[in-house]
Amino acid sequence: MIIHDLLQPISEYEFSQNYWGKKALYLEGSKDKFSDLFNWQKLNEILNSNISPHPAIILAKSGAKSTPKNHRELIEALRNGSTAVVQNIDQYDSKLSDFLDQISYELVHNTRFNLYLSFPSKAGYLTHYDTHDVFIFQISGKKKWRIFSETIKNPLFVQKKHGVSIPREDCIYIDQVLTEGDLLYIPRGHWHDAIATEELSVHLTLAAFPRTGIYFMNWIMNELTEILEFRNNFPLIYPSDRESSIRAKYHEHINTLKKQLIQFLEEPNLIDNFYNYIVSNTTSRPNFGLPYINGIENADKLKTLNFRRPPRIFRLISEESSIFIVFNGKKITLPSICSSIIEFVFSQEFFNYEGLKLNSNLDDVDILKLINLLLEEEIIIVN
Ligand SMILES: [Fe+2]
Repeated sequence: MIIHDLLQPISEYEFSQNYWGKKALYLEGSKDKFSDLFNWQKLNEILNSNISPHPAIILAKSGAKSTPKNHRELIEALRNGSTAVVQNIDQYDSKLSDFLDQISYELVHNTRFNLYLSFPSKAGYLTHYDTHDVFIFQISGKKKWRIFSETIKNPLFVQKKHGVSIPREDCIYIDQVLTEGDLLYIPRGHWHDAIATEELSVHLTLAAFPRTGIYFMNWIMNELTEILEFRNNFPLIYPSDRESSIRAKYHEHINTLKKQLIQFLEEPNLIDNFYNYIVSNTTSRPNFGLPYINGIENADKLKTLNFRRPPRIFRLISEESSIFIVFNGKKITLPSICSSIIEFVFSQEFFNYEGLKLNSNLDDVDILKLINLLLEEEIIIVN
């Protein structure tokens, strides 16, 4: 697991128990910890791929944002202390996108990568907190981070009241210079600021968008549209008897809703259905399988190809006569004779015909049909 390697020397269990959503964590890493994931060469390739400054770049200085008009303006702004941010940089590098998809799969959360590039000078952003959790990957240079305790616990992006005043300096509980290979986790709500020291600093910020009780309630709200009582009008109450009857009439109506809601929450399949929703609601990148847009023409061709199942969140559900694949907002039903081959495909990243044959009772024609279905549904690609 990627998350296991990232968190070394602490375990995933310790992280989920003591830090996730609770407390920031600094982890010192070896200098080359992220060098395979991202480096200067890759950043230069992305920045040099556009005649104008890359469309995903914004400049930030002391909390003010702008967009550079040309490369010279971008370089000048960096020299003058602006931070350049490449938003959603995972969309421009296949290694970052694969890494992120794997993390999304392991955490069952939607994620994104932003890149921050800054010279030592001013902080790009003032002391603030975010409404999602972040992991900071220090790729190059040094950056000094200060983490303050939260002033409002687990804030949401849309919330009635937010924490408005920055905590005092004695609330700082991490004050640390991050160097190449270091990792920092900051839960939402924990105030922080950062400033590059000594040399040009590059870090990636992995944002993870937590699922909360409100997310659960939004799902429920959507499900309740199937229940007649929740679609019914509230009773009309005219001015003449409003004061005397409003409580009784609304009480009766709300009581009916309450009973239906309890019944819904006590359904034995509730958790299963909610988990299927989470799986189908986790954003997936497309898996173009060009040039096999019409599938593979015959079993002889199938035997010559290699396949890859890119890391995407999925769920397999086996029932007596069927196996279901929950993937990319869909539930695909297959007969249970496909169970062993499907389990094989979902346990591998790379495979070919031999592996498929070894792990199934299907004949070549049915294997071909199944592979063409998986290609069409963008579950696998020809590698
Ligand atoms: Fe932040």
